[in-house]
Amino acid sequence: MAVRAAERLVLLSSEPKRDSIAIALSGGNTPKLLYGLLGNEPFRQQVRWQRLEFFFGDERAVPPDHPDSNYGMVRRALSAEGLAKIHPMKADTGDSAAYQELLRRRVATSRRGIPLFDLILLGIGRDGHTASLFPGTAALEERENWVVMNEVPQLGTRRMTFTYPLLNEARLVWVLAPGREKKEIVKECLAARSLEGSEERWPVLGVRPEAGELIWWLDRDSAPGHLL
Ligand code: 6PG
Repeated sequence: MAVRAAERLVLLSSEPKRDSIAIALSGGNTPKLLYGLLGNEPFRQQVRWQRLEFFFGDERAVPPDHPDSNYGMVRRALSAEGLAKIHPMKADTGDSAAYQELLRRRVATSRRGIPLFDLILLGIGRDGHTASLFPGTAALEERENWVVMNEVPQLGTRRMTFTYPLLNEARLVWVLAPGREKKEIVKECLAARSLEGSEERWPVLGVRPEAGELIWWLDRDSAPGHLL
């Protein structure tokens, strides 16, 4: 699955008439394999890095050199030195307005004046959270700001995260959900996705791009039987 996703990302980076391609990266463990593939041969030389600009869909409230930092994980996995512009989310400062301003400056906006990402990578937690939109947390209700600090009592911490208005403006959203440990939550989410208000219990279900494409990346271990 990571190889297929890397191949699709190579194609995205080479699309004609695109001089700057904005991509928001996911944290966690799942995308590490994909990032490692992209940062090494043969993909390293196939990706047109100079056209890409990377951002983060969420970040833990730790400095960039902390082991929990998504920024640190991506830089290590991509061996990113001098590879591409990567904009860390300084969640430890709590200044979500600064990141929002960065997006306003660096990312093309849609007709509605919302930053229009070419691709947003997301993961899914066992509780159905995505980015740092956790069940029952305030950020789920945010309809104005694109980036907020979100108190996450389940983790006893707060995180900086994209909100639904920003996520759902993207041209393309990938939810990466491979492996046995995602099987149960994938099954629950696919069963609940047409229920009214399901995103309160399974926040990933609130990711429904207005005009963009949504792709859930599943593999043999995580896909429900009827999809195999
Ligand atoms: C993070 C991610 C988070 C992650 C899920 C799944 O900062 O951790 O943004 O939303 O995608 O928790 O994590 P795994 O990939 O480790 O299962």
